[in-house]
Amino acid sequence: MAIELTDLALPSEVLTRIQERKQKLTAEDEFLIGKGGYTAEEADILEDALIALALGKNVLLKGPTGSGKTKLAETLSYLFSQPMHSVNCSVDLDAEALLGFKTIAEKNGKQGIEFVSGPVINAMKKGQLLYIDEINMAKPETLPILNGVLDYRKMITNPFTGEVVKGKETFGVIAAINEGYVGTVPLNEALKNRFVVIDVPYIQGESLRQVLKTQSQLQDEKLINQFVQLSGDLITQVSNGHISEEAASIRALLDTCDLALYMPPLRAIKRGIIEKLEDEREKAAIQNIAETLFE
Ligand SMILES: Nc1ncnc2c1ncn2[C@@H]1O[C@H](COP(=O)(O)OP(=O)(O)OP(=O)(O)O)[C@@H](O)[C@H]1O
Ligand SMILES: [Mg+2]
Repeated sequence: MAIELTDLALPSEVLTRIQERKQKLTAEDEFLIGKGGYTAEEADILEDALIALALGKNVLLKGPTGSGKTKLAETLSYLFSQPMHSVNCSVDLDAEALLGFKTIAEKNGKQGIEFVSGPVINAMKKGQLLYIDEINMAKPETLPILNGVLDYRKMITNPFTGEVVKGKETFGVIAAINEGYVGTVPLNEALKNRFVVIDVPYIQGESLRQVLKTQSQLQDEKLINQFVQLSGDLITQVSNGHISEEAASIRALLDTCDLALYMPPLRAIKRGIIEKLEDEREKAAIQNIAETLFE
């Protein structure tokens, strides 16, 4: 069941602020509202993110791949009933991908130059949410252009038009980062300093069981419980430093559960989890754990 605002222990003032942010939405806006569905092990994660956003702070979701960061951002958009404009960072990310670009357009039979605004400008002007995914994949020199957007000024001079754009009161920023992976760079301190940081770990136990039940096609209770156990064992091995963290990815586990609908669990684990790893010892360690749980 999707979490609603009323399920959370939020101070009434924060709830009021969230209600006050509600805007009249066009069909296009509705399309940009997240579906929700993030399941938290500790309600703090959702509550703290909501409080920070309601106070106008930027939120940085930090966690390993497949831990639900994007799902959490979508859930925040859902709970705020606020459309979310997304930017996917990569080394090629440039100012145009963030702010927009100029193009030739025809207006009243005349050709002219028109500016097509990008996600940052759209979110600021409409007072909606901006989601910056994989923020540490961007080249370090690209993001400082957002420094003014991300501090108390919430402002930018659009270099393509010269226009000074001020973020509306309800404009909010959520960013996601998974640290230490290939291709990522440590986030610049001044940039990190502009965010409230929320750790998003892999969920375990009952909350994981719920997610597997609702999001995978596998419905066999016994198998689901065994997969929850497998995940718990993998997380223990991660904390002992025996296997790399992404081996316990919830995304990979969901794929594995789906496969287990049509093949023996050990083969599903091989395809969904083990074969993604490079290190032979890690692979063998996971194979061992899996064999103790599934025959
Ligand atoms: N706590 C959770 N609640 C609900 N779904 C979850 C949760 N954790 C993981 N998932 C599911 O696992 C999959 C991966 O989640 P998601 O894409 O949000 O991960 P991510 O942290 O954004 O990963 P990446 O860093 O690779 O982008 C999705 O199908 C998502 O629904
Ligand atoms: Mg993601």
